Amino acid sequence: MEDTAAVAGTTDAFPRVGGIMHCEGVPLPELVARWGTPLYVYSQGAIRERYRELDDALAPVPHLIAYSVKANGNLGVLRTLAELGAGCDIVSGGELHRALMAGIPAERIVFSGVGKTVHELAAGLRAGIYAFNVESEGELCALSDLACAMGTRAPVALRVNPDIDTPTPHAYTRTGHAATKFGIAAARARALYNIAARMPGIRLRGIDVHIGSQILDVAPFRDALEYVLDLAHDLRQAEVDLEFLDLGGGLGISYEGGARISAAEWAAEIVPAVAETGLKLVVEPGRFLVGESGVLLTRVLYVKEGGGKRFVITDAGMNDLIRPSHYSGWHAVEPVQAPGRERVRVDVVGPICETGDFLALDREMELPKPGELLAIMTVGAYGFSMSSQYNQRPRPAEVMVSGDEATLVRRRETVDDLVAAEMDL
Ligand SMILES: Cc1ncc(COP(=O)(O)O)c(C=O)c1O
Repeated sequence: MEDTAAVAGTTDAFPRVGGIMHCEGVPLPELVARWGTPLYVYSQGAIRERYRELDDALAPVPHLIAYSVKANGNLGVLRTLAELGAGCDIVSGGELHRALMAGIPAERIVFSGVGKTVHELAAGLRAGIYAFNVESEGELCALSDLACAMGTRAPVALRVNPDIDTPTPHAYTRTGHAATKFGIAAARARALYNIAARMPGIRLRGIDVHIGSQILDVAPFRDALEYVLDLAHDLRQAEVDLEFLDLGGGLGISYEGGARISAAEWAAEIVPAVAETGLKLVVEPGRFLVGESGVLLTRVLYVKEGGGKRFVITDAGMNDLIRPSHYSGWHAVEPVQAPGRERVRVDVVGPICETGDFLALDREMELPKPGELLAIMTVGAYGFSMSSQYNQRPRPAEVMVSGDEATLVRRRETVDDLVAAEMDL
């Protein structure tokens, strides 16, 4: 391949060859010709590479990489990770169903979330998952009662809230400080462990924290680990038997082409102290494993000017990718075929009837023409998984690329899909 240069992000899965962006060995316009737009495209090689990087970094300790399904639950993505030995972190009965379907063994599944229903708890027990990350006293009691009724004991970690202020790009992705709904208050954690140790339906197995998402600094993880180690020490003194420490997810990636968390550097700060405990390390990365592996391809419909602004209107909108609108998420917008025009400032907006419907605001880029293709970069995590059918728009198709081969891993929804679950009055 000649004339090859990586585009935004730290993955080289989307090279340009002769000016045309590819995913691995496949030209993106070919995928659009087959499956249309908007279209999510994932590089299987990029997912595998990122998993191996983390797996290698954690090699000195017994560990479980429990991929956070909420980041991207496509069965193709889950199967790719299952083949590498991943487990997963789920937050609903639907995610449990998906994970088992994809071949993730139940004994590698941890179940997180503040509001698990009795049906969801029962499904987890029936499946024989590795642990429930319990987030309240009420949930603990409900789980114990249910397990007794089912003639079993539920494997449990308490998710504790260490009250750590974590620098993430948006307030909605901070989960480790006391004022959030997540976890059990630090002041209550020891007492609740002692209560749980005596509950007939509970088998205590670990300690869990998750402090937030898109964290680019190792320091908050170190603080969370320190908190967890302290708690583990006290619980050992109280003869509470533990098997694992779960440090959650949150490892940050590169959205603007800058640095991301290096698994090796992260692990160097975490692994030695975990090794001393002899406990297994569980991590729940989502974004880190899949975020940089995906692009969203969209076609420019119209270009117009108004109010001193230039708008590039695309056929993908906030229903397809909500991160820019919901989290002020920044994604590089690249022409699929670089036309070499002058750069101007534009808002890249979707067709949805909301002023908050945009993919990029006040962005300097080569002015595209109607009909041309744009790639919204770094959307492998919290892209499709947060999409909706708002404005009655069928959700996009998803394609997985490996080398020169592309596989449709989710067909485009149809207008019939939009009404399939509804009944006549
Ligand atoms: C409990 C839990 N674990 C893991 C994750 C994954 O986070 P990330 O994608 O930042 O790694 C999340 C995301 O919010 C979460 O809530």
